[in-house]
Amino acid sequence: MRIFVTGGAGFIGSNFVRRMVARPNVEVVTFDALTYAGNLVNLGDLEGLAGRHAFIRGDICDADAVTKAMAGADAVVHFAAESHVDRSIATSAPFVRTNIEGTRVLLEAARECGVQKFVHVSTDEVYGSLGATGYFTEESCLAPNSPYSASKAGSDLLARAYCETYGLPVVITRCSNNYGPYQFPEKLIPLMIIHALEGRALPVYGDGGNVRDWLHVADHCSALEAVLREGAVGEVYNIGGHNERTNLEIVKMILRFMGRDESLITFVKDRPGHDRRYAIDASKMKRELGWTPAYDLERGLAETVAWYVAHRQWWEGILSGAYREYYERQYGVGL
Ligand code: NAD
Ligand code: TYD
Repeated sequence: MRIFVTGGAGFIGSNFVRRMVARPNVEVVTFDALTYAGNLVNLGDLEGLAGRHAFIRGDICDADAVTKAMAGADAVVHFAAESHVDRSIATSAPFVRTNIEGTRVLLEAARECGVQKFVHVSTDEVYGSLGATGYFTEESCLAPNSPYSASKAGSDLLARAYCETYGLPVVITRCSNNYGPYQFPEKLIPLMIIHALEGRALPVYGDGGNVRDWLHVADHCSALEAVLREGAVGEVYNIGGHNERTNLEIVKMILRFMGRDESLITFVKDRPGHDRRYAIDASKMKRELGWTPAYDLERGLAETVAWYVAHRQWWEGILSGAYREYYERQYGVGL
């Protein structure tokens, strides 16, 4: 199976590429623009796997480049996106461009290339915000509240329409918040670990009572592999781990694993339009594809803290900007 993976130099994409390249009879082509969030260092251990893994730098909005790179692919797994809510609140245009127009370009190319499966990786955030009770199911209404989630919802609807109109074999996944190795340090968990390591304030938005349903990235990737192999065309699958915690609980867990006291916690201005609670009903994944997560949150978060402690060079390279030079060393031209 030859898989065309967009956004494979980002957090979840790089974890997925590493997982799939280890499978027999699988070849992966990673297609990624290397925006600020893309980091070839994340795939550095796959160098030397010529024939099993190829990297192509390209923009998913560039139809010619996409169609050329996708030729010969059996399946597409589409991760590439602008992914950070706070950035979308500051500037929404790149979100509309990459997440909506980029997805349209990929769907067109997939039609032209005749791919057998198009896995569109989306998010639970398209469903909006929950009150104190209840869960998102695949039937929940789309009610996005941020420019990020609105652009992802737009891409979901395009993916659905290409399946209905052209018979493109699309499957949509909607996962809850991920954590684990290689997550860009603008997101809650790596940001808090790094700030705690450096003795800096830990900025908790609002009252810290917003709830997220955390899933280890390895569990997201195992779910995506199940969807890629067995997911029914035209279906939506919610993916989550039943690990609902408030942000304050997560920050306190991190401090406990690090042996730090809670004095670094600092409450700051709330995010505008801040979704209060996400919680996923993932029973369809279990019932139809036999998928369940392997990690519990205590173990997964403890391992993640240990990973960031052990990989100081990785995140210092991001904070200093040096990670951008890795591409130049590999390919002889700057980003
Ligand atoms: P990320 O920001 O870490 O990585 C995104 C990748 O996409 C980067 O490598 C970047 O270079 C690439 N990219 C961005 N714009 C591009 C373009 N125009 N052309 C080609 N490549 C481009 O994101 P992530 O956290 O790994 O998320 C991956 C996907 O999973 C996204 O679609 C996101 O919506 C979805 N998702 C993320 C989470 C989460 O908790 N992180 C949860 C559910 C779903
Ligand atoms: P984030 O990692 O940005 O993911 P998302 O917004 O997609 O859920 O944020 C997770 C939660 O943590 C969210 O409720 C916002 C909150 N948060 C903070 O309190 N402080 C921070 O510095 C960040 C980045 C997030």
